[in-house]
This record gives sequence, structure tokens and C-alpha cells, in this order.
Amino acid sequence: MQASMTKFAIDDGSTNVKISWIDNGEVRSVTSPNSFRKDWKSAALLNDRKVFNYQIASTKYTYDATSDKALSTTHVAFQYDDLNLLSVHHALLQTGVKPGPVSILVTLPITEYYRADDCQKNEENIARKKANLMREISLNKGELFTIVDVEVLPESLPAVLTTLMDSGVNEFTKSLVIDCGGTTLDMGVIIGEFDDVSAVYGNAEIGVSMVTNAARKALSAADSDASYLVANELIKRRHNREFVEEVINDISKVDWVLERIEDKITELGAAVAYEAKTFMRNPNRIYLVGGGAMLIETAIRNAYPSLGDKIVMIKAPQEALSREICCYHAADTQAEAV
Ligand SMILES: Nc1ncnc2c1ncn2[C@@H]1O[C@H](COP(=O)(O)OP(=O)(O)OP(=O)(O)O)[C@@H](O)[C@H]1O
Ligand SMILES: [Mg+2]
Repeated sequence: MQASMTKFAIDDGSTNVKISWIDNGEVRSVTSPNSFRKDWKSAALLNDRKVFNYQIASTKYTYDATSDKALSTTHVAFQYDDLNLLSVHHALLQTGVKPGPVSILVTLPITEYYRADDCQKNEENIARKKANLMREISLNKGELFTIVDVEVLPESLPAVLTTLMDSGVNEFTKSLVIDCGGTTLDMGVIIGEFDDVSAVYGNAEIGVSMVTNAARKALSAADSDASYLVANELIKRRHNREFVEEVINDISKVDWVLERIEDKITELGAAVAYEAKTFMRNPNRIYLVGGGAMLIETAIRNAYPSLGDKIVMIKAPQEALSREICCYHAADTQAEAV
């Protein structure tokens, strides 16, 4: 029998939920894409595949990775609605841990967590998110985790917790954290080793989806309609010619599609660099996190040439937030287990 409840750190982003937990002393992380639609899926033809049919109150939902009818999760209300509850439970099931009571740490976008005018915690939003995740939900022909405790943390900033601790900053150091996610660009300024958060910024117009949408359009023009997931995979593996030629049917348009993608990546980088410069002209350090970190790294380096190696891309940037929250709180979990 387990001595204590497992504690999961969950960065429930708008496009992907990242979940980390400690398994035999090691941190494990899983990324679970958000793709739900209304109604249930039939199980008849899918013996080898697991079907996830959920119900919340009287509404039925299913997990469907490739559906065109996938419900949008890319708006702020997502943080407090059915889809968020679904995405968190679905991610928990992807861990392979046996369902039971759990305690979770989740995140809110920085501009929801802090009040923009005075950088104080927005207790109302935090309570709303907790209440949302404690709601009833059921899985048809399956067992779900029972969420018994929810703690809410801000997005982005905790991703640099251990990096900052180890980097010898002093109490005056201003670190700019840039989180380029699927749909939003979030930034925050940390003073010292988390002595203070001095400014926060969020922009829901700038994110990797700019590149994803351009990729889908170009693919479509090359007789290769693709889902959001496939387009994202193509962006990640654009330097792998074999993969690219597998995805693009019209071989004569391969270079053209790749150029469209590169152009959009450049545009994304320029947009992020511009916003960052406007938000903070002269930080002492810059940390890059989020799934889009690799796409914008060069643009940020060019925008802040004097910072050199004080610009750091956190390793495995997409999972950085959930991993760091997990590591940071692991000590608590161990203590509780005794
Ligand atoms: N190595 C990579 N190269 C390019 N794109 C990547 C890479 N890894 C992840 N991505 C892309 O990053 C995006 C997701 O990033 P992330 O998980 O940080 O977003 P999110 O937290 O769901 O969104 P948001 O923070 O906007 O709510 C996806 O579009 C994914 O395809
Ligand atoms: Mg995110």
C-alpha cells in the first residue's frame, strides 16, 4: 500500500497539458494534447485503442486527436470551464499511474494569477480555478482520479526556479522570463531569486499557432491537408527531409512549404522580440521557456546582443514548468509520505 497520495504537477496550457510526477525518485513528464469534442465515440471498431468518453453534468465529451470538431481551448475562459476539467483528468490518465485520490498543483496564466496593475495575487481567479477542478466528472467504462486537493501557481515564472537558484543572481538582478506557448506569449520579470515579481505581461495574439496555421495552409496548397497535430510535427521535424517528404504529397512543393514555415517562424521571432523589447529594454538575464522557445531563440539573441550567454533556453522548454514545479514541491511530498 502506498504511504501517501501521489502529487502531480500540471501545467494545463491551452494546447497541451504537461504533467510531471516523481516515480521511484525520478521525475517523469508526459505531454497530453488537448483535443476534445462533444458526444461520445463508438468503441466498436477500436479494440486495440482506448476510448475516452467523459461526462460532466449532462454533457458528453470524448478525446479525439484528429477531429475537425475539436473544441477550442485557446481562450482565457478555458481555465475555468469543462474543457479544463477534462484536459486535467485526461492528462492524469496518460501517466499510467493507477487512478486514486490525488493532490495536484496546476497553473493559471500569469495575467490571470496576478493583477496586472499591482502584481498582487488574484485570489478570486485562484479560487475559481480550484472550484472548477473539484467538480464531478465521470469516465464511461473506466476509473478516474479523484482530485482531493488543488494548489494553484502562476504559469511561466516557476519554470526557472532551480535555474535561478543555481545561477548566482543577487537581489537586484532582473530576470525576464519569456514563455512562448501554443497560443499565448507570456512574460514576467523576477527580481533576485524570486524576491519579487515586478511586472507581468500576456498577449493572446502571439504563439506557435501562427506558424501552425501557416503550415496547415501551405500543406493544403500542396495537396496535403493535415490536422493541427501533424502540422506541429512537421514544424518540429522540418529539417528531417524523409519525414517532410512523407507528409507533403506534392513533392514539387516541398521547398515552397518549408519556406512558408521558415517565414512564419521568422515573423513569430520578430513579434516576440519586439514585444519583449517593449516590455523590458534592459533585463540582466533572459530565460526562454514554453514549446515555442526553440523557434524564437535566435530572434531574442539578436534583439539583446549584449547579454550573450545570459540568455538561457531552459532544457526541454515545453515541459520545464511542470517539471520545475514538481521538483520544487517534491520535498514537501516526501515529507508528507513519512
Ligand atoms: N521542439 C519544438 N519545435 C517547435 N515547436 C514545438 C517544439 N516543441 C513544442 N512545440 C510546439 O509548441 C506548442 C505548444 O507549446 P506549449 O505546450 O508551451 O503551449 P501551451 O502551454 O499549451 O500554450 P499556452 O501557453 O499558449 O497556453 C505546440 O504548437 C507545439 O507543437
Ligand atoms: Mg503554456
